[in-house]
Amino acid sequence: MPRTEPSQRALLSEIVGLREELADLKREKADLELLMETNIEHSDYLEEDLLNKVESALRESEKRFRLISETIPVPITVSRVSDSAIVYANSPAGSLFGFLPECKVTDFYNPGEGQLLLDMLAVQGCVSNYEMEGKRADGTPFWAALFVQPLTFNNEPCRLTALYDLTDRKLDEEERMRLATAVEQGAESIIITDRKGNIEYVNPAFEQTFGYAREEITGRNFKMFKSDKHKEAFFREMWNVITEGRVWAGRVINRKKDGEICEFETTISPIRDTSGSIINFVSVNRDVTHELQMERQLRQAQKMEAIGTLATGISHDFNNILTAIFGNVQLAKMDISEENPILSKLDNILSAANRAKDLVMQVLTFCRQSEHEKKPLQISLIVKESLNLLRASIPATIEIRQKIRSKPGIVLADPTQMHQVLMNLCANAAGAMREKGGMLEVVLEHKDIDADYAIRLPDLKPGPYLRLSVCDTGHGMSPEVMDRIFEPFYTTKNPGEGTGMGLAVVHGIVRSHGGAVHVRSEPGKGTVFHVYLPRISAPEKKEESEMTETLVKGHERILFVDDEQHLQEVFRDMLEHLGYEVVAETDSVRALELFRTEPDKFDIVITDQTMPNMTGEELAAELMRIRPDIPIILCTGYSERINEEKAKEMGIRKFLMKPFVISKIANAVREVLA
Ligand SMILES: Nc1ncnc2c1ncn2[C@@H]1O[C@H](COP(=O)(O)OP(=O)(O)OP(=O)(O)O)[C@@H](O)[C@H]1O
Ligand SMILES: [Mg+2]
Repeated sequence: MPRTEPSQRALLSEIVGLREELADLKREKADLELLMETNIEHSDYLEEDLLNKVESALRESEKRFRLISETIPVPITVSRVSDSAIVYANSPAGSLFGFLPECKVTDFYNPGEGQLLLDMLAVQGCVSNYEMEGKRADGTPFWAALFVQPLTFNNEPCRLTALYDLTDRKLDEEERMRLATAVEQGAESIIITDRKGNIEYVNPAFEQTFGYAREEITGRNFKMFKSDKHKEAFFREMWNVITEGRVWAGRVINRKKDGEICEFETTISPIRDTSGSIINFVSVNRDVTHELQMERQLRQAQKMEAIGTLATGISHDFNNILTAIFGNVQLAKMDISEENPILSKLDNILSAANRAKDLVMQVLTFCRQSEHEKKPLQISLIVKESLNLLRASIPATIEIRQKIRSKPGIVLADPTQMHQVLMNLCANAAGAMREKGGMLEVVLEHKDIDADYAIRLPDLKPGPYLRLSVCDTGHGMSPEVMDRIFEPFYTTKNPGEGTGMGLAVVHGIVRSHGGAVHVRSEPGKGTVFHVYLPRISAPEKKEESEMTETLVKGHERILFVDDEQHLQEVFRDMLEHLGYEVVAETDSVRALELFRTEPDKFDIVITDQTMPNMTGEELAAELMRIRPDIPIILCTGYSERINEEKAKEMGIRKFLMKPFVISKIANAVREVLA
């Protein structure tokens, strides 16, 4: 309803009243003229007097009508009922219609709408506040609310129409609709609050981004999105700016409904009423979390490339220098006698040079320059094996859990390098929990990265991956530390405690396998390293046979007991060749004493059955009394009395018949340790 409706109505009825009065007066005048003609008894004076009175009243009334209709800014027309021709229009009507003389009122209505109005008038005689769209003489549209009353004009049935021009309001409304659509459809989260910060409106983009529905958030204070990433002073300053009537713009870290922390580019502007007082604040927020993440990752990738190039150059030169050192020291050793005291110094040089060689190897691994043979590999086996190894070296205050959710989960990888990745990550996790204890969890799962997801992970191509996650509840890292952890030689440990090569090596290995390492960490809340490795699907059978081959090596410490010196040497060489650390003993009693002094030093014992003083069986029983979980492999010739069943009953894990080839003992060791 237009706001001026009551005054319109009053005006309209006054005009109608006036016209009726005019018509009455005209009728009265005509009656008088008739009376004068027929009644000769009337005096001349009376006739003239009456006539003058009526005529002056008529003129007066006519003048009042014109004055009112010409002064008020409301378009008014009088149109004939018979043909809709406009018989009178005031000047506002002329400007509204862009008036042409000799027009019909229906010329200004859209055809359908005009007919509808005429039909309504035919039935009701009048309309009030009828909103319609019309067209001016020049064809442009206008909108108006119509008030129509019947009226006799010049002795003809007419209609008096007053129009309330709604065109500006309509255009304003359209403009508002456009703005509202922009706000509703916009990709940015928009929040409108009252001047105390209580939320009055949020748009759908907000609902989607922040996870709150409009109904649940309306009326609550915008402070609820605060994360603990900003100091109080930050918000105080923001509040000061906007309450002073200025616009605040900057980056804000907010907390979403699910607790996720996200970074926004935010603008907060005050909204004022017509008197200039602030009534609302509108805040427009663009989620830039992923953008920033990608920027960081890109920067990180570029930095690692640069460091890689530098490290490759230095390492190659360093290797040449080391070759010269090795060659010369070895030549020097040949030139001096065995008794020469310089010999031990030369040996010291050699062992230092060897350490340097190892370090260069690590740097080259980081630079992805080390050659390794990749085979289809079931990572879950590496995980189990590494965790078994770790258990012995990690304090009991740290709980170790493994969740293997992917089977078989085959990747094309070098087993030694995968082992190294896991050991380095777990060692760091354990290091972070050394003081307070905690939980170390290793999770293995399939993760398929589609094109949409890959956009957020610029270092990974879409495809099937195996994700190895190492999570700890340790001290975590600050963003500054996180920025540098993959750099070679970056460490926060005390001098002598860490080389800072662990993660650099992990990074190099994983990248050379076509994967990526992602890390999430918060100070005091622990750390998660995600290692993505491209997954392959290998035929079952092939996997198994190749798997067996990949199982042959290991790093564990083995106590090997056999009374035959030459056999003992052969086995030790064999096992060392497989990568194990071997302590070999020919005397079972001495072996038992050795074990008793350091029962945790060994991961497995391999013993021959037939030996003087104490048989393998007896030795096994003693060893298990000291450490019941010690894995033992018993080797026997065909003639010996102990059989496999009996050995198993005793708790001996594996029983091997002599003679055996290298692969048999290699597999047996892995089987027992798995
Ligand atoms: N799980 C973790 N929790 C907390 N900080 C970690 C974690 N992993 C790595 N870091 C940080 O990253 C740094 C670099 O790790 P990296 O493994 O490369 O070297 P390091 O552990 O210091 O030394 P090294 O591995 O050669 O013994 C560490 O010094 C530590 O500050
Ligand atoms: Mg480390």
